[in-house]
Amino acid sequence: METMSFGARTKIAMPDIGLGTWRIGGSFTADGSQDVSEIEAVSKAIEMGYRFIDTAEMYGNGHSEELVGTAATDREIFIATKVWQTNLRYDDVLKAAGRSLKRLKRKYIDLYQIHWPSDSIPLRETMRAMEKLADDGIIRHIGVSNFGVELLEDASSHLSRHEIISDQVSYSIADREPEKGLTEYCRKHGIGIIAYEPLAKGKVFEGRNGRVLAEAASMVSRTPAQVALNWLMCKRALPIPKSVDFGHLSENLGATGWRLPEKVMKFMDESL
Ligand SMILES: NC(=O)c1ccc[n+]([C@@H]2O[C@H](COP(=O)([O-])OP(=O)(O)OC[C@H]3O[C@@H](n4cnc5c(N)ncnc54)[C@H](OP(=O)(O)O)[C@@H]3O)[C@@H](O)[C@H]2O)c1
Repeated sequence: METMSFGARTKIAMPDIGLGTWRIGGSFTADGSQDVSEIEAVSKAIEMGYRFIDTAEMYGNGHSEELVGTAATDREIFIATKVWQTNLRYDDVLKAAGRSLKRLKRKYIDLYQIHWPSDSIPLRETMRAMEKLADDGIIRHIGVSNFGVELLEDASSHLSRHEIISDQVSYSIADREPEKGLTEYCRKHGIGIIAYEPLAKGKVFEGRNGRVLAEAASMVSRTPAQVALNWLMCKRALPIPKSVDFGHLSENLGATGWRLPEKVMKFMDESL
């Protein structure tokens, strides 16, 4: 697996693919009915070589974090989780991080992300709490999610001792919105892009996207999913496809360790 660098100052080496966990452990409420197979899927992913797992306190109302924590026990896995929008007051951020840490059964959270910006809670207050967590070693790195350039600038302006190392946004061949300024800004400021919904929940395989992927896949003898994920890596984004299917987990991991040739990238960018 290749790595990419996150953070202008910290320059941490990140794996070039991660595992998403939305709907593992439930969606908006906890669902324990699939615990055995979901823990098995996350454990299998780790055995296969996944070294980055993304979760959130909101996923399954905390149950996703519990399952990830169980599957990753005593393993050197980089775990990213998120604080929900309603917990962005100073004290609430500290409490939410404590709860996540407990559910994840870890000594610290590798990457703590603001899941969505809030309209009502000042960023200054939230960022102060994020710095306190980083100072205290509860979290190793600060990240955000669903932030545009303006919000990133605002959030960064409230930090003095730590930096924002990543922004997690929707990004795929079916959603190229981040290319309208965000990716360039992040590249310039050393902020890593984590691409969520990298397969657009299956939409990348449909219609024109599907046809372009199929053609590109035949040019490089890879599968359409591998091409869709590799396209993101070529754009220096870290895709976090979700899967509980062993075949898909293995296929997605096969998107790493190589890069689409420039002429295929050009063909894709012009045809999508
Ligand atoms: N920050 C945010 O606001 C935010 C929002 C949305 C998502 N996320 C994060 O991003 C992760 C990924 O997004 P997502 O789960 O919504 O969408 P996604 O990864 O684009 O798509 C997941 C779907 O694709 C299927 N799949 C996976 N690999 C496949 C393959 N090789 N071929 C065909 N189908 C495949 C999965 O089914 P199987 O399980 O059957 O393989 C699942 O139904 C989430 O799990 C979550 O961690 C973050």
